[in-house]
Amino acid sequence: MAVCVYPGTFDPITCGHLDIIQRAAPLFEKMIILVGKNSAKSPFFTVEERVDFAQRVTAHLPNTEVDTFDGLLVHYVQRIQAHVIVRGLRALSDYDYEYQMASTNHTLCPNIETIFLMTALQYAFLSSSIVREIGRNGESLSGMVPEPILYDVTTRLAQNKSQNR
Ligand code: COA
Repeated sequence: MAVCVYPGTFDPITCGHLDIIQRAAPLFEKMIILVGKNSAKSPFFTVEERVDFAQRVTAHLPNTEVDTFDGLLVHYVQRIQAHVIVRGLRALSDYDYEYQMASTNHTLCPNIETIFLMTALQYAFLSSSIVREIGRNGESLSGMVPEPILYDVTTRLAQNKSQNR
């Protein structure tokens, strides 16, 4: 069965991520959206929140499921006997990082391929850190964060702002 893994920190998942998921999921029998637990990024949202958000925004896609991982990505991919990692590419600035990551994973595990989808043009500027910054400063996140989680993401980011005053 053709299974792909779409890994990320998803802090939080954005409309850009969802665009990649919606376009890649039909190409595979199953897609696992894989939330990194101990990212070097020290995520703002807890892993439980990031998983909940990912589940809610993909509830309409029956061949997707959400899981978490710790440690090396290729160990997870090998364990579930998948062979494909999906990543989104936004602009040239993503290339170096993505090239390094795909090459490392391929060196560690030559039977795992990374395939890239170009991020839709309207999300080329978007990132999770931009979402967090805009939300903390009280601006609307509509069109950046998927509707099912818009209220919760906005509320959490706004609370953080008021706690830090
Ligand atoms: N549209 C909009 N934004 C997008 C996007 C898209 N299609 N695709 C990525 N992004 C943005 C995210 O919003 C995020 O923004 P931020 O940097 O402002 O937070 C950034 O691009 C990348 O984040 P994300 O997609 O969540 O993935 P990541 O790069 O944080 O994930 C892992 C990295 C978890 C996959 C990687 O660190 C990993 O595999 N770790 C495990 C350790 C390992 O195996 N190491 C060996 C390989 S190097």
